[in-house]
Amino acid sequence: MKLNIALLAGDGIGPEVIDQAVKVCDALAKKYNHEINWRPALTGAAAIDAVGDPYPDETHNICATSDAVLFGAIGHPKYDNDPSAKVRPEQGLLRMRQKLGLFANVRPTFTFPSLIDKSPLKRERIEGTDLVFLRELTGGIYFGKRGREDNGDTAYDTCTYTRKEIQRLAKKGFEMAEKRSKRLCCVDKANVLESSRLWRETVQAMEKDYPDVKVSYEFVDAVAMRLVQWPSEYDVLITENLFGDILTDEASVISGSMGLMPSASIGEKIALYEPIHGSYPQAAGKDIANPLATVLSAAMLFDGFNLSEEAEAIRKVVNKSLSEGIVTEDLAEGGRAYKTSEVGDWLASHI
Ligand code: IPM
Ligand code: MG
Repeated sequence: MKLNIALLAGDGIGPEVIDQAVKVCDALAKKYNHEINWRPALTGAAAIDAVGDPYPDETHNICATSDAVLFGAIGHPKYDNDPSAKVRPEQGLLRMRQKLGLFANVRPTFTFPSLIDKSPLKRERIEGTDLVFLRELTGGIYFGKRGREDNGDTAYDTCTYTRKEIQRLAKKGFEMAEKRSKRLCCVDKANVLESSRLWRETVQAMEKDYPDVKVSYEFVDAVAMRLVQWPSEYDVLITENLFGDILTDEASVISGSMGLMPSASIGEKIALYEPIHGSYPQAAGKDIANPLATVLSAAMLFDGFNLSEEAEAIRKVVNKSLSEGIVTEDLAEGGRAYKTSEVGDWLASHI
């Protein structure tokens, strides 16, 4: 297969972890006879520095005309501590999601047998966890009307959803549940929020089209608690943008390191693959960041093209590196800490 992949390294540790994923994909392409044409483009703080825009038109054109996007991270501390900054790297990410129509963010949470004791949660609670969040990504409070009133002393953000937006996300959730263990949980706050009541009403009306799927409706505060108490009770969870943002960070703790969790953002046409960790500026340029979340995001990319043998080959080599202790310092625990680039080289040569 010939693949054109837009490559958006972004900020912080983005470029380093992206380099390792590229090594692994290139090794895989060689083995399975694929041709990958990487198309690098600027985004985030790096793009603000270069052209004053975190998601320049040129980058959008490269993404929109590629088969998929592989993305590193976005964000820089110089903007975090400056509430008056007019342009922020994160605006680039949000604009990219919206312009590429990436409405469903797929964030799986699973455990690795060799790392189960690295999780702060007890082994018996997390063993067997294999759940996936479908977070709505282009609506809700992230994109609603916001502003200031009262000479700046009052601020508001609004959460708006249409039935259509809920339906297209829920459809993906039902379809995914059908292929997995047929359990779907709709996470909302329908006891308080009108937008949540529309979510519940919409998903309830869709149940009849998926008779095999058992749907539960739970409030977000209860899910926040049960997720770390009994994560293996969940399978597919669908939720709105902000709830999904918060719960997926929480869920990453189950796996033992945020440096491990991949994600895919899918839309009508194009899909984007990215690690769920951020730009981790403290580690930038030090060759110490864990590249596995990005490498596993590349595995999801191959899944996206129905190249499941290739995707499995990546997961297998990642598991092998973990059980043989070829790990970066976040997982080394007294053993040898390998550099980001060494882990990438090891994975590529073992493909
Ligand atoms: C994420 C991030 C982003 C979000 C930020 C960087 C805007 O936290 O992808 O989860 O809130 O969506
Ligand atoms: Mg987040």
